[in-house]
Amino acid sequence: MLSYSLIIFCITLLINPILCYIPETRIGHNSVIIHNQLLVFGGRKNESVDTSTYEMLYLDLTKPFDSKSNPWELLKEGYLPVYTYFSTSIVSTLDDDIIYLIGGYRLNITTNEYENSNVVYMYNYSTIKWTTPEVDNATPRQEITGVTDNKGTVYIFGGNNMTNFTMGTLYNDMQIFNVSTMIWSKLSINHNLPSPSCAYTATILKNGIIVYLGGVENDKGNYISRSEVTFSSMKTIRLFDTLKTEWLQMNVTGGDDIAPRVFHSSVLTTDGHIILFGGVGGKNTAIGPKLAILDTNKDIYEWRIPSSSDSSPYLYAHTANLYGNYMIVTFGYDMDNKDRNSQIYLLDVTHYTWVTTYTPPIITKPFSKALAIGLGVGGGIFLATLISIGVRFFKRHRHTSILKIPGSASII
Ligand SMILES: *[C@@H]1O[C@H](CO)[C@@H](O)[C@H](O)[C@H]1NC(C)=O
Ligand SMILES: *[C@@H]1O[C@H](CO)[C@@H](O)[C@H](O)[C@H]1NC(C)=O
Ligand SMILES: *[C@@H]1O[C@H](CO)[C@@H](O)[C@H](O)[C@H]1NC(C)=O
Ligand SMILES: *[C@@H]1O[C@H](CO)[C@@H](O)[C@H](O)[C@H]1NC(C)=O
Ligand SMILES: *[C@@H]1O[C@H](CO)[C@@H](O)[C@H](O)[C@H]1NC(C)=O
Ligand SMILES: *[C@@H]1O[C@H](CO)[C@@H](O)[C@H](O)[C@H]1NC(C)=O
Ligand SMILES: *[C@@H]1O[C@H](CO)[C@@H](O)[C@H](O)[C@H]1NC(C)=O
Repeated sequence: MLSYSLIIFCITLLINPILCYIPETRIGHNSVIIHNQLLVFGGRKNESVDTSTYEMLYLDLTKPFDSKSNPWELLKEGYLPVYTYFSTSIVSTLDDDIIYLIGGYRLNITTNEYENSNVVYMYNYSTIKWTTPEVDNATPRQEITGVTDNKGTVYIFGGNNMTNFTMGTLYNDMQIFNVSTMIWSKLSINHNLPSPSCAYTATILKNGIIVYLGGVENDKGNYISRSEVTFSSMKTIRLFDTLKTEWLQMNVTGGDDIAPRVFHSSVLTTDGHIILFGGVGGKNTAIGPKLAILDTNKDIYEWRIPSSSDSSPYLYAHTANLYGNYMIVTFGYDMDNKDRNSQIYLLDVTHYTWVTTYTPPIITKPFSKALAIGLGVGGGIFLATLISIGVRFFKRHRHTSILKIPGSASII
């Protein structure tokens, strides 16, 4: 849905040598932050026209933008090797040039047929190319969210094993993908196992605990129709301790009530709050609240509904990423307008208010050491040293991200 003002805006831009790229809307896409870009790929377009999409697009997070002004840029030459949606993608914590794309519903770009020959694809930021690393025993799953710890281990819980785009079978296993060895394995854990589940979100905390929120579950894993599954309670939270490799369950008692949901998103703030946003309830019903905060600093986590929740847009199958002080929400389905969402939404996480202007974070340069050395040296040399350090620092850090929160895009 393009507004005329946007078209006029773009025509105006055409006069200038700036490219105006208007992306097609989508649901169930992937979004990651890599080298100060919010990179979006995959997702499902319009069922009646085309099932999926394979171009890659990004927002440049080093520049300010107005969320209503269509700041998207097309990544030229950047094409996905398969149509994919409701997959998971992760930027490697061992190499910030590398993205892994895992699982999801997939169609062969040429034949448009179901395609599961490669569970893992790897993207190299420097070469703008996807390759297929050899990963033995990787099991295809859909509606999953993977998270990575800082040692390069990706954790993927359960998910759906679809049978030809009807539903399928839900799992509750914990699969491990070690990106330094490319070894895929399965943990054998029997204690405290959660029910087979999919369409949850996963967020890894600083203490190595993964918090699983929402989604659907069925004790026997049956997922042949939506009526067989129940929506996971937001009061009984599934936790996986990556340091002890064990499952835990936490019953959240106090705090606000949060309706169960799927197709929501969750991101972690630097001060240990998980921001839950959007999603949809059973039989496509509305959920409440649209925005909620889970405080993980307490022994028993606590839900809280910020006052801005009422003014939140109502999206599901969108993605959310945290960068600086902003939660950046893209695409998905807009329940209020009953259409796919083309607008970017920005939540200022310092006050949990929705804003329309993005301002890049100020890079705080760690100059103190350089300064201390510089100050010990006399006049002109001092200045020269400082300038050269400054230039070198700038070159080296220009493309590295300022704030990286492992965590999460959306899900289903
Ligand atoms: C899909 O595309 C058709 C044809 O352009 C349009 O009529 C329909 O509204 C679109 N549906 C959605 C969900 O965007
Ligand atoms: C898609 O199908 C074509 C034709 O069968 C095949 O050559 C190609 O390898 C497939 N693509 C992928 C990514 O498997
Ligand atoms: C990514 O591409 C760069 C440039 O070609 C190359 O030096 C690097 O080794 C590649 N990384 C991986 C993990 O393949
Ligand atoms: C997933 O389903 C396919 C058939 O659709 C089956 O061959 C495969 O073994 C299943 N995978 C698991 C892990 O159950
Ligand atoms: C899905 O699989 C079932 C059993 O394998 C088969 O009968 C059915 O025709 C398939 N449906 C589609 C759309 O391919
Ligand atoms: C991943 O592989 C590396 C290299 O062999 C190893 O040091 C590390 O322990 C592995 N991680 C896990 C979780 O097994
Ligand atoms: C959480 O509550 C359920 C009942 O609602 C109970 O069965 C379960 O044991 C409780 N779990 C913990 C860890 O207290």
